[in-house]
Amino acid sequence: MITPYFSHNNITIFNENCLNKDIFESDFIDLTITSPPYNVGIEYNSNNDELNYENYLDFSKKWLSNCFYWTKPQGRLLMNIPLDKNKGGQKAVGADLTKIAQEIGWNYHSTIIWNEGNISRRTAWGSWLSASAPYVIAPVELIVVLYKDDWKKTGGTKKNNITKEEFMAWTNGLWTFNGESKKRIGHPAPFPRELPKRAIKLFSFEEDIIFDPFCGSGTTLIESEINNRIGIGLDIDANYCELAKNRVLKEIGSLIFVNNHEKNITN
Ligand SMILES: C[S@@+](CC[C@H](N)C(=O)[O-])C[C@H]1O[C@@H](n2cnc3c(N)ncnc32)[C@H](O)[C@@H]1O
Repeated sequence: MITPYFSHNNITIFNENCLNKDIFESDFIDLTITSPPYNVGIEYNSNNDELNYENYLDFSKKWLSNCFYWTKPQGRLLMNIPLDKNKGGQKAVGADLTKIAQEIGWNYHSTIIWNEGNISRRTAWGSWLSASAPYVIAPVELIVVLYKDDWKKTGGTKKNNITKEEFMAWTNGLWTFNGESKKRIGHPAPFPRELPKRAIKLFSFEEDIIFDPFCGSGTTLIESEINNRIGIGLDIDANYCELAKNRVLKEIGSLIFVNNHEKNITN
């Protein structure tokens, strides 16, 4: 049994490597929401984000296999990944990782396109005003929706906390909201809370187990707690575990304060 780095209410963080299959038993996760390293040269503390592409695919295969083993038969996985890679050779990252996931046994359900408003990836035009070798860059990311055995969830509490408006808006697979500020969060690649919030409310029941094998600053875990789910996160880097711990304490603490405050006002 591995020792948690931190545990608070329904949230547990482990300072562990998700490539290590033995850290958990099989079949316990209801929904994984994660953004793995993109292999685009981001300066994380503990992992090399500039593997050659074959090694990156091999790394992806390992963590996707472990998540498959840890997931319940009716469990799901939402993988936030780039559509493609432009630096250091054009690669179809989204297509390649989706194919690898299916080879492992994951079933494909759908892909949500995240239209990230404040992305700034336009650094090169290729051949300016010439058909010689122009670059086309789509300012979007993918959220690939996969499941283990059955898409229809018959287990769990069956308690939902999604509104009619949210359900109608979010089942349209074009999601438009801004990315998160690295500076504000203090992590090199956080996703915004809106992403796990939508994923959790749309694809899981209350009290389900939500997992993030690359939890970074703890964004998925915060939304798990707020939405009455159980959040489990791993990060290989102790500094990011500490960041996630402090963020959880701050954000969850303020949530309780806001709720009490609202309660006081209405009473
Ligand atoms: C793209 S970031 C995830 C950010 C997160 N979604 C957030 O909102 O803060 C990827 C994270 O994976 C962690 N990481 C990289 N390799 C890992 C591994 N093998 N096991 C666990 N964590 C790893 C990095 O330290 C980094 O924090």
